[in-house]
Amino acid sequence: MRGDGDQPNQDPTRSEFYADVVAGLSKAQKTLPCRWLYDQRGSELFEAITDLPEYYPTRTEIAIFEQHLPAMAACVGGNAHVVEFGAGAGTKTRLLLDALKTPQSYIAIDISADFLQSSMAALAADYPGIDVIPIVGNFMETDTLAGTELPTGNRLAFFPGSTIGNLLDTEIITFLAAVRAMLGDKAQFLIGFDLVKAEDILVPAYDDASGVTAAFNLNLLARINRELDGSFDTDAFAHEARWNEAAGRIEMHLVSQQDQTAGVNGDRFDFAKGETIHTENSRKFRLDGFDSIAAEAGWKFREVWTDPKEYFAVALMG
Ligand code: AVJ
Repeated sequence: MRGDGDQPNQDPTRSEFYADVVAGLSKAQKTLPCRWLYDQRGSELFEAITDLPEYYPTRTEIAIFEQHLPAMAACVGGNAHVVEFGAGAGTKTRLLLDALKTPQSYIAIDISADFLQSSMAALAADYPGIDVIPIVGNFMETDTLAGTELPTGNRLAFFPGSTIGNLLDTEIITFLAAVRAMLGDKAQFLIGFDLVKAEDILVPAYDDASGVTAAFNLNLLARINRELDGSFDTDAFAHEARWNEAAGRIEMHLVSQQDQTAGVNGDRFDFAKGETIHTENSRKFRLDGFDSIAAEAGWKFREVWTDPKEYFAVALMG
């Protein structure tokens, strides 16, 4: 492994969190950026979500990989330099590295230096033939991508998990274009994204019977209490998952159950009964819809793989 230790620690700070909370709660439609959902507790709850019977995306995407990785690897070709956005090193990363023919390097870009350090060390130990390169930074910021040097050769971007679905369409185009600028015109991009399906499948996936997703969403208020000296009564907010048909997305909200006021570091925020904090968007695409968004960033589908129910898709773009 190389490159570790020479990056500044850019873990999101308390002051950034505070600034985002104050800005978000000051808007007419109160909102909190979804990246703050993932502290230690939130990451554990998200792991638990991926095992829920109602939450189909993770297991469906893994099934697509298990069935089609040989074909994907044949399209990608040998000696790839894999660039993953968000520290993978989990099941999907390993499946991909196992399927590719003589991959040369694995580069992961993630905001959390600690997480990156431990997951990359484990990966380097298991894949001694691959050059494992951690890069600490926010991959959603174009500057991070533009400032990163990559090995030359057969470059493959890897972005599984439908994380792309957290972005607005304009942000998706900006991100995909920045990836293309970073990896070059000859690069390929293997990306997983969730598909539009019946509302009675979508909503339970984000509002499960055992309440794990509710706990995941409400943990954001608990985190504000823990880290920003907040005074949210977490019992006075309820989790809601809404299908926004026009925007093609599931929205997570926290609904105030009563008129109330909550403090954050000395600031006060008022909530009317029924008022919501919008905490996450999870975009669901149609295959042709994703193709035309990607085309605006210069990418074209080379091949798309789905599961038999067409719940989820993995595309190879070039
Ligand atoms: C990690 C962004 C893909 O949108 O499905 C799961 C996050 N939120 N349940 C998703 C999430 C609520 C998840 N992503």
